[in-house]
Amino acid sequence: MSPSYQRYFDESYADFWKEQTRRYGHDEGHQRLIDLVSSLVPEGGLLLECGMGNGFPFTRAWSARHRLAGCDLSVRALTMARPDLGGGASARLAGADLRALPFRTGAGQAVVCARALNYVPQTWQALDELWRVTAPGGHLVFDAFNRDHPPRRRAALRAALRRPWRTLFPAPGQQHALRISGILDGLRARGASLSLFDDQGFPLPAQASAPWRDQPTLWIVAGKPR
Ligand SMILES: C[S@@+](CC[C@H](N)C(=O)[O-])C[C@H]1O[C@@H](n2cnc3c(N)ncnc32)[C@H](O)[C@@H]1O
Repeated sequence: MSPSYQRYFDESYADFWKEQTRRYGHDEGHQRLIDLVSSLVPEGGLLLECGMGNGFPFTRAWSARHRLAGCDLSVRALTMARPDLGGGASARLAGADLRALPFRTGAGQAVVCARALNYVPQTWQALDELWRVTAPGGHLVFDAFNRDHPPRRRAALRAALRRPWRTLFPAPGQQHALRISGILDGLRARGASLSLFDDQGFPLPAQASAPWRDQPTLWIVAGKPR
């Protein structure tokens, strides 16, 4: 990892994202995703949140319900998160890269990577790490922009996000490398059972051949075999 990549998230992005989260707020879509993830963690189970940012809106909701450990590349973002974690203030938080997670293999009954994987150029290096720390019988939950989306839809995504693409991914050397079809195939090849949800947390039809086709972003829940 280049030092400038890390420095960017610490020195620029942490404050940018704090402002964004204030603007996006916490809506019903977020709550559905919080409830969905919570339903995957058994009583006393451990939830790992990777790329957790400043902890709003997800981490603090989960930390009130579960044992939690979290990490982010930006130590500054983690510092912002700490006062917010309420009952979960004792949660273990660590500055770490998604591509080299500080958790033991199979540690998390649920492993969540919310709105962070899109920033990592080496998608599979990060996904394999996230999959490694997911417990057998547990679930990996993450979201992804849909690179298989028809181009006209990408313009709609840009408009919805109200930012030009290059300002969304301005860090040095960054690439938004995901293709949803490849991600899903790769996870299936690793034995995952998949469920897909739209960005509001509503399930997408399991029987459709490409239920993600019209989604600009989607959430993927990958169940790991026991
Ligand atoms: C859009 S924010 C999302 C934060 C939080 N998960 C949320 O949903 O609000 C993206 C986060 O990914 C983190 N990030 C980017 N690249 C990373 C990497 N390689 N390893 C760990 N975290 C990374 C950034 O520091 C930032 O906090």
